[in-house]
Amino acid sequence: MSAPAATGVRSATRARIAERTLRSDRWWLTPLLTVLGLTVFVVYATIRSFVRTAYWVDDYHYLTPFYSPCVSASCAPGSSHFGVWVGELPMWIPLAFLSLPFLLGFRLTCYYYRKAYYRSFWLSPPACAVAEPRARYTGETRLPLILQNAHRYFFYVGFVISLVNTYDAILAFHSPGGFGFGLGNVILVVNVILLWGYTLSCHSCRHVTGGRLKHFSKHPVRYRIWTFVSKLNTRHMQFAWITLGTLIITDCYIMLVASGTISDLRFVG
Ligand code: FES
Repeated sequence: MSAPAATGVRSATRARIAERTLRSDRWWLTPLLTVLGLTVFVVYATIRSFVRTAYWVDDYHYLTPFYSPCVSASCAPGSSHFGVWVGELPMWIPLAFLSLPFLLGFRLTCYYYRKAYYRSFWLSPPACAVAEPRARYTGETRLPLILQNAHRYFFYVGFVISLVNTYDAILAFHSPGGFGFGLGNVILVVNVILLWGYTLSCHSCRHVTGGRLKHFSKHPVRYRIWTFVSKLNTRHMQFAWITLGTLIITDCYIMLVASGTISDLRFVG
């Protein structure tokens, strides 16, 4: 049986160039930084999602996003903002089992992250004008990558989870005496605003708000929303990276306060 025909830069119609690239700049730097950044986040998030310690500050009602929503009997008393739906969970199931798989799906199928990890982890291709190491290229036309088309559905769930995070941030305006706020609230609120920036700047959101319209003039409200989302969309990559950072900062701060390592800087209450 003959070998399948080469595709991409090695197909019969492309110029025969022996070198993998003629670029002489540091084209490898961006993929390298991407690998480092994404690896740090995945390792941190995985460890924190499973350790089940220091995720809730009872005095101030701070709940880290990595444990929200917490709906099992294993959750710390007070941290189940939406009630207790299931009994004790074994240690191998994260307490945020309702949200984490969808958040993972949302980010994995994100148009920006796809570009980032296709280039950096799969070298497919690693940069413009740098040939990928494989001879064949099927893109997102087959399993498993055809599942990337489910992104729009992950967007809907991601939208709901952003509402959950917002609710958590509002409930955190609390002190043992009633209303109060401190540095933890500032961090939680900034994190939520940026999470909304990431969610609303999603390409699927842009399509939901303004897609399939023949006449913007007949839909002025949708046109305004689409214009707003389109502006955010130009910053989607920045939101993607910044929110990885703010998620770590938010979780880290709550972990330090919850464990008694530092005290929350209180402004009121
Ligand atoms: Fe990135 Fe939808 S979240 S494109």
